[in-house]
Amino acid sequence: MNRIRCDRTPAWASLQATFADSGRDFDVRSAFAADTTRFQAFSQSAPHVFADLSKNLIDAATEQLLLELARQTGVESHRDAMFAGDAINTTEQRAVMHWLLRTPPLDPAMPAQSVHRHMAEKLNEVHATLNAMLAFAEAVRADAGITDIVNIGIGGSDLGPQMAVLALDEFVLPGKRFHFVSNVDGHELNAVLRKVRPGSTLFLVASKTFTTIETMTNAQSAKTWFEANGGTDIARHFAALTTNVAAASAFGISTTFGFWDWVGGRYSVWSAIGLPLAIAIGAQGFKEFLAGAHAIDEHFRTAPLAHNLPVRLGLLDVWYRNFHDFGSRSVAPYHSALKRYPAYLQQLEMESNGKRVDATGTALPYGTSPVVWGEPGTNGQHAYFQMLHQGTDVVPVEFVAAKTPKHDLNGHHRLLLANALAQAQALMQGKADAGGHKHFAGNRPSTFLLLDELSPASLGALIALQEHRVFVSGSVWGINSFDQWGVELGKVLAKDVEARLGSGDVTGLDASTAGLLALLA
Ligand code: F6P
Repeated sequence: MNRIRCDRTPAWASLQATFADSGRDFDVRSAFAADTTRFQAFSQSAPHVFADLSKNLIDAATEQLLLELARQTGVESHRDAMFAGDAINTTEQRAVMHWLLRTPPLDPAMPAQSVHRHMAEKLNEVHATLNAMLAFAEAVRADAGITDIVNIGIGGSDLGPQMAVLALDEFVLPGKRFHFVSNVDGHELNAVLRKVRPGSTLFLVASKTFTTIETMTNAQSAKTWFEANGGTDIARHFAALTTNVAAASAFGISTTFGFWDWVGGRYSVWSAIGLPLAIAIGAQGFKEFLAGAHAIDEHFRTAPLAHNLPVRLGLLDVWYRNFHDFGSRSVAPYHSALKRYPAYLQQLEMESNGKRVDATGTALPYGTSPVVWGEPGTNGQHAYFQMLHQGTDVVPVEFVAAKTPKHDLNGHHRLLLANALAQAQALMQGKADAGGHKHFAGNRPSTFLLLDELSPASLGALIALQEHRVFVSGSVWGINSFDQWGVELGKVLAKDVEARLGSGDVTGLDASTAGLLALLA
């Protein structure tokens, strides 16, 4: 697919002119004063999510230009290529089809369906695997002898299921405990092994490749511990979630749930990698999670660009990164169960869009992924919100909150929501004070995402929304959002350094690494 680089489009030039003319000094407070319909114009519903974009530094004319930029850079045809199963991950020659994992089965009676008929075979495989995995999940749920589920995996094989199991804590089956071991630091596995017993534990070894050193080391140690402590039935107590079934069986695991190379690690929570979540919330809950995501897929695939929420969010990200030169975005979930949501988004966005070359390998003259970071509110307010309100850098904030809580503790939820709204209000309004120290400049942008409640369906929708917004900004930037070569060099060097830590050999090393190694060997 021949695509025009974003900075060579007419829309980019117009956006630059607009930014120089009025964009840089845009005042959102004046925009609200001048337009009583601003909230309606810059807010919208998408499946399970209401989004208020009106507190952002943008007007209708700029949004039109950004939509033009999307058209001129071919975002729509790129999106359609993803949904057609084309190999848009060009450096690995792979299709990008995590969306297929949440597509309902084909109804043979209905010829015109969203999924292309030539996908039928793949979709049938997806559903066969899903059904097997959900049957296994239900069997584990019914098995009172299994009390602890230990997921061993890292990156996408950890963050997605961990984030989702924590987020849906209110829906988790009582009597089962979930543990997540990702770090090669033995303290992490050790802390879990201290709490569990071989006879009542199910280890899930989650690794797309089944070669990741952290996961293999932890899995081997878990197996050694299991056998050393009287565990006998590996088939009952270990399962593998992987595309590399052969490696899992060589490791000694016979219960395996597979997936496919067209599912990126950070997009894999919808696949067998989601097994801990399926055990936690049950087959029905997992299906609702998939259905919420599918509803957003359909929205992204079919809604006109101007009312397409992932498109609007992704374009806003481009506006902030490339015109305002904002280098980061803070995510502020006003729901304590979303405590791993910022970490999940870090991998999703920074591993996808942290690229300095375009899809042809040519260095880019413009910025790509922002730094994504955050903590649940209200905790963040008492830590780094000082910087958000009065620091020298402007950091757009993305709030997310649920209208209805899953508890009935008096007053808490109203206070929580009041804080979320007040923070967004304070960032925008500011407060004049002649003294300097108590002055808030205001005009600091934020987006507010509102769910009715945090449920399997709304979480699925929220995550799919984030996946597609990352697709949109990556698509405008012309990068391959689906590879991750940047993680490879450190992995290779770690092998060399590990050998040197054993031998003490510092030959050929830089003086700093040699000096540190000498202290550690
Ligand atoms: O090293 C980065 C990475 O490849 C991520 O993209 C991935 O989610 C993680 O490692 C884990 O990989 P695997 O699931 O193959 O163990």
